[in-house]
Amino acid sequence: MLILGIETSCDETGVALFDSDLGLLAHALFSQVDMHADYGGVVPELASRDHVRKLLPLCDQVLAEAGKTRQDIDGIAYTAGPGLVGALMVGGAVAHALGFALGIPVLGVHHMEGHLLAPMLEDNPPGFPFVALLVSGGHTQLVRVDGIGEYEMLGESVDDAAGEAFDKAAKMLGLDYPGGPRVAALAEAGTAGRYRFPRPMTDRPGLDFSFSGLKTFTLNTVNAARKAGELNDQTRADIALAFESAVVDTLAIKCRRALEQTGCERLVIAGGVSANKRLREGLEKMAVKLKAVVFYARPEFCTDNGAMIAYAGAQRLLAGQQDGERIAAVPRWPM
Ligand code: KG4
Ligand code: ZN
Repeated sequence: MLILGIETSCDETGVALFDSDLGLLAHALFSQVDMHADYGGVVPELASRDHVRKLLPLCDQVLAEAGKTRQDIDGIAYTAGPGLVGALMVGGAVAHALGFALGIPVLGVHHMEGHLLAPMLEDNPPGFPFVALLVSGGHTQLVRVDGIGEYEMLGESVDDAAGEAFDKAAKMLGLDYPGGPRVAALAEAGTAGRYRFPRPMTDRPGLDFSFSGLKTFTLNTVNAARKAGELNDQTRADIALAFESAVVDTLAIKCRRALEQTGCERLVIAGGVSANKRLREGLEKMAVKLKAVVFYARPEFCTDNGAMIAYAGAQRLLAGQQDGERIAAVPRWPM
């Protein structure tokens, strides 16, 4: 079965072709990051309009790369939510129009299920069951995964998502959007131990997270350094490192708890923040002690992409699921 996957939930137009026998045949991504950078964040209307411009050319591009035509496609998967409603509508409308014209099934899939399953596209994919840490710009969740569609929420952020905290800390440090990779790069030059940031909610039981206090702590630290006339490049790097270390430690402590609590021996990390090198290292260090194995996707499949949607959609389309005639666009949608 040849599946076309379409991702347009936010500021990346992602398209991919996944063959259920041969695996991923082609994928393409257009990032709108430069367009939104001037505004310090994603402008929803600009995002929708750009998806309109880029989506069909990207579909033709992946088909050409794979040596296929539209007639070869057996099913179409698109991100139905959560995300920006206008952006989601573009992907859903194109998926349904193509599906209708070609007479093939179409299915809206959950964006976070796409992230969750992205490591399945790599060599040596994880077997079930596993614990998944989903860390993106909008979500921070720990999920027990027993199979496709068998998800048990173990814990989640009660306020900001980890990626959101990275983006806000970046702004405070004078870095552009999206901040996560930029904070990580700045932290490379940081001196460990100059600042110590809190590890929120790790001193009490449970698997929920809170990152808004860390944001305030960062702001106070930046302001104090500025007042003292010390906010130079080295100080900014030291703050970035202290912030990143606090996020990584907090996530690692909760992941260890989740592995111990469930008895799972596999930890999957997914979503944009799972591209973070220090997070991967921190989780691997923690997992070794529990004799657990950590799985993650290549960096380009950690952030938003079409391949994860094609893969997640393929699993569900193969199981016979498909949309009715209605386009699904669900801005808020629990997994
Ligand atoms: O999964 P994603 O691409 O989009 C959402 O579904 O939200 O995640 C984007 C988030 C942004 O907050 C971005 O700053 C963060 O992931 N991110 C990172 C890194 N790469 C992306 N955060 C920390 N370190 C990174 N290397
Ligand atoms: Zn995402």
